[in-house]
Amino acid sequence: MRDFIQALPKAELHVHLEGTLEPEHIFALAQRNGINLEYKRPEDVVAAYDFHDLPSFLKIYYAAMDVLREEEDFYELAWHYFQRAAAQNIVYVEPFFDPQAHTVRGVSFETVINGISRAQRDAAEKLGVTSNLILCFLRDMSAESAAETLAAVEPFLDRIIGVGLDSDEKDNPPAKFAEVFARARSLGLKLTMHCDVNQKDILDHLRECLDLIAVDRIDHGINALEDPTLCDAIVERGLGLTICPVSNRFVVQNLTGDEIRQMLAKGMRATINSDDPAYFRAYLNENFEALVDEAAFTEAEILQLVRNAFTVSWLPEAAKTAYL
Ligand code: ADE
Ligand code: ZN
Repeated sequence: MRDFIQALPKAELHVHLEGTLEPEHIFALAQRNGINLEYKRPEDVVAAYDFHDLPSFLKIYYAAMDVLREEEDFYELAWHYFQRAAAQNIVYVEPFFDPQAHTVRGVSFETVINGISRAQRDAAEKLGVTSNLILCFLRDMSAESAAETLAAVEPFLDRIIGVGLDSDEKDNPPAKFAEVFARARSLGLKLTMHCDVNQKDILDHLRECLDLIAVDRIDHGINALEDPTLCDAIVERGLGLTICPVSNRFVVQNLTGDEIRQMLAKGMRATINSDDPAYFRAYLNENFEALVDEAAFTEAEILQLVRNAFTVSWLPEAAKTAYL
């Protein structure tokens, strides 16, 4: 099964580039940028990963980003991820990045996007991994800050395909960002939002995503299974759901294998993704392997999940058919 998973050309639609920052790279960047770390060795960093819910993860995730300062740092971050993607036979990626997590630290938007864009070009040329970038707004920051971020990206619109919404979901509903997402749509961008598993008011968040924002995809979205009306709407609109099994195991102590099967049975377009692979210690293939090892997923199920990812990707239709 490992060979089967490895050999399949795959797409990944839910990976935070900042969530691919490996402990060894944290050390190398800290040294280059003259930053003191409270840890002595990369192993100590991993030992300190103690995630049991979304806030406990986010605290560590944002703290580590402080080592990312220069354009070259962002280039390396993305380039290292694309190299791993190539090694796992991932041929297409729609990665997220969190510009506000950098601009609040005084790193310019240009620095971030120029580093990432250059890595995307190199990945396409040298590795055969193509990608389209998704800008995520941080939902625990204000709607005004999101609007300012969108204004900052307007000169770079050709470099992103869509916008997303991530970070701490508690009391930060989709409705808070209705205006900025409407503006993003008017600029021709695709829309997606995190509806993280088992968050407070999650069914309201899912309904707002569908009825108010009219998203083009949903990140996570497992809780939709609790409401048949939501499931029907997701099926009817052909919306993709980007599920992250190993991430779910950390955040809600459940790989969500049963839920993924229920989604497939209902015709919901579930896809498998890694979310923050450096932190959850599992890239895309390891997420599929966990489903095989712990929930006995079959080759046919894996194939369906991989096909779904290409189907609900934001590739042009002609490019999709090459993979389907
Ligand atoms: N930012 C990075 N990873 C995230 C996740 N799993 N949920 C919400 N925000 C995130
Ligand atoms: Zn995520």
